Amino acid sequence: SLLESSQQGIVSPFQNPESTFSINARRGSRLVALKRLQKDQKDKARETAQIAGTVLGDVLGVRDKQTLSSQEHESFKDKSASREEIDKIRKSLPAYTVKAKLVQTIQENQVTIVIGETGSGKTTQLPQYLFDGGFCSGGKLIACTQPRRVAAMSVAKRVASEMGVKLGEEVGYSIRFEDETSDKTLIKFMTDGILLREALLDPTLDRYGCIIIDEAHERSLNTEVMLGLLKRLLARRRDLKVVVTSATMNAAKFANFFGNAPQFDIPGRTFPVQLIYSKYPVEDYVEAAVMQAVRIHASTETNSGDILIFMTGQEDVEVTAEVIRERLTDIYAKSKGIARFEEIDDVKIFTVYSALPGDIQNEIFHSLSGNKRKIVVATNIAETSLTIDGVRHVIDCGYSKLKVYNPRIGLDSLVVSPISLANANQRSGRAGRTAPGTAYRLYTEETAFEDMYAQAIPEIQRTNLSNTVLLLKSLGVDEVTKFPFVDPPPIQTLLSSLNELFFIGALDKGGNLTTLGSEMAKFPLQPSLCKILLSSAQNGCSQEMVTIVSMLSVPQIFYRPKERQKESDAARSRFFVPESDHLTLLNVYSQWKSSRYSHRWCSKHFINFKSLQRAREIRRQLVKIMQKNHITLISTGTDWHTIRKCICSGYAHQAAKVAGLGKYTSLRTGMELQLHPTSALYGLGDLPPYVVYHELLMTTKEYICCVTSVDPFWLMEYGTLLYDIKKVNIADIVRHPIEYNICEEDAKDQEKDNEIDRKLQALR
Ligand code: CDP
Ligand code: MG
Repeated sequence: SLLESSQQGIVSPFQNPESTFSINARRGSRLVALKRLQKDQKDKARETAQIAGTVLGDVLGVRDKQTLSSQEHESFKDKSASREEIDKIRKSLPAYTVKAKLVQTIQENQVTIVIGETGSGKTTQLPQYLFDGGFCSGGKLIACTQPRRVAAMSVAKRVASEMGVKLGEEVGYSIRFEDETSDKTLIKFMTDGILLREALLDPTLDRYGCIIIDEAHERSLNTEVMLGLLKRLLARRRDLKVVVTSATMNAAKFANFFGNAPQFDIPGRTFPVQLIYSKYPVEDYVEAAVMQAVRIHASTETNSGDILIFMTGQEDVEVTAEVIRERLTDIYAKSKGIARFEEIDDVKIFTVYSALPGDIQNEIFHSLSGNKRKIVVATNIAETSLTIDGVRHVIDCGYSKLKVYNPRIGLDSLVVSPISLANANQRSGRAGRTAPGTAYRLYTEETAFEDMYAQAIPEIQRTNLSNTVLLLKSLGVDEVTKFPFVDPPPIQTLLSSLNELFFIGALDKGGNLTTLGSEMAKFPLQPSLCKILLSSAQNGCSQEMVTIVSMLSVPQIFYRPKERQKESDAARSRFFVPESDHLTLLNVYSQWKSSRYSHRWCSKHFINFKSLQRAREIRRQLVKIMQKNHITLISTGTDWHTIRKCICSGYAHQAAKVAGLGKYTSLRTGMELQLHPTSALYGLGDLPPYVVYHELLMTTKEYICCVTSVDPFWLMEYGTLLYDIKKVNIADIVRHPIEYNICEEDAKDQEKDNEIDRKLQALR
């Protein structure tokens, strides 16, 4: 069985790796590749136009567009529903019909498994029912955990507005680096990871009277560790109530895990969904989804239901939405006999994915007014975490992005992989929430049975467990192999995690937590970043290092608008510190700080203001943790040599040696690695002989991202167990000359800005 085979090693997400379906997943969408290419060409054309002196028109044109879209954005803002409306909606949810019995069952049992269709009100209603039922009367909090940050935020907002309270007061949320709670908070939504960290400080979780582990069927790694901890805690905390909510799949498993806990069913009312499979294997799932969406829209009444499309990740989602818009505009123009048609007025297209900055627009949850159809393009976040009302057509590409541990490189990576049949059914079910619906599966019926596992592989069986093992050790779990897991992870993964932690110095030979290890567990960061931060105090560069670590903790520092990629790449390159992407990040932050954290400065340099603000906030919080643990904050000024050495201390196991133009080989595994094109080192004629890297990105090739050049002596110092002096080429030891010439670049940069300013001024 799947479980048995997983005990021997990591399970591949591909049941049938050589099938057309699997091969198409790995190849990705041609349409997406084409769009990428077109954007590059547009950039080139723009560059030429700029040389020809038309830069201003462009700058102005684009600025105008930006203002317009931000105005448009304003109009999306929540049109708050009235009290009566909210009450009406709440009373119409399936959970409402069983409210009293549900509260009673939870009252009478220490653990209850609550099962209900997505959208039945588990997440938004259950905490309120318990609140009304007096579960907070002793001043204890109700916790509700979510595997996804976006869900925790959006649900907290919804519940606060349903209860008519201000977010952050009675109802709040807490996600990594963001705490929107106060002394008043009684219902707290949080990611499962946050609750785990709270258990580090307070092992009995005394503040909470009731803990709802929501979305347990998703089987996220942190959820499962949390379930194990709770299982151990129940005997010590007789007063604690635990509620585990799950879609129908896996519910029995959780009930068994908690010694036959009662399963409470929220009776669902769902409507039949017709399944339509593709007759032939689909070559390009993005193209196929676009065609299907356009066909549905053209052949059915606009008010006959909204369309929900499941895609794999951010880029696929964006391209799908963009091409649908293009195709619809074309069709409309043709039907009206005009060359170009500006705005499609009977459709609104939404995109949903986790990295979306800010929050999900509220409008997405409700039917649109007027005769307008919603088309929502989403990742698997819309499978169960979010319920979008009014959907009657589902288009399922059959894939999702999965975090998969690759034992060959010893790292996790995101891979487009087939979903499981259970997920496919969950996706299809989204079409039948309010009326009968149709699900279009962009794969053949045979594929569904031959290439898909019946159930998804739980995260714990396909990812690296170093963080988890460190956490368990810090929680006093000595023998991690004996920890009560719902499904135990492969022994091999546990062993390799123990090894990695030993190598980095977090565990001693006996597998016990070292002083370094217990210090590391205090930071909500991956082990290598913890180590860098801790050793930075001794190296005298903790001020700089905490900035770098904060910058590494936010996505997308550099803004790369679709129409101006070349231009933004040039802007980015002006920040490059030769030989180090880490120092480049430090450089960006320092310059932003000099601009007094200016928003305008960010827009000018194609830098994402929100990301930098977030980095600043993360930095503030990390500094707080450092101060609490008496780690000195000290600056080394511009001694970047020291900083690079300190970076090396955390990444010694991720080191590589130059192998040719833009190529490196991993020192540990001998695998060939490509330098990522966004790196500051990319395009250097003379590549530094040794580097360490922050992460490995696997797409068509294996790319190393965020790279810093290091001295081979440092590698030997920090990687004593891995690298041997004999393997290092003597010629390389003559240190590679490094020049830092930021100031000059800065001046050029300033000059260019001034010039644009002058031209703009003249125009006004
Ligand atoms: O957790 P479960 O899937 O059982 O349902 P839920 O998330 O509590 O959703 C119940 C209802 O609230 C659905 O009709 C959602 O569309 C709605 N909802 C909303 O309007 N806004 C949100 N931010 C979240 C849910
Ligand atoms: Mg839910």
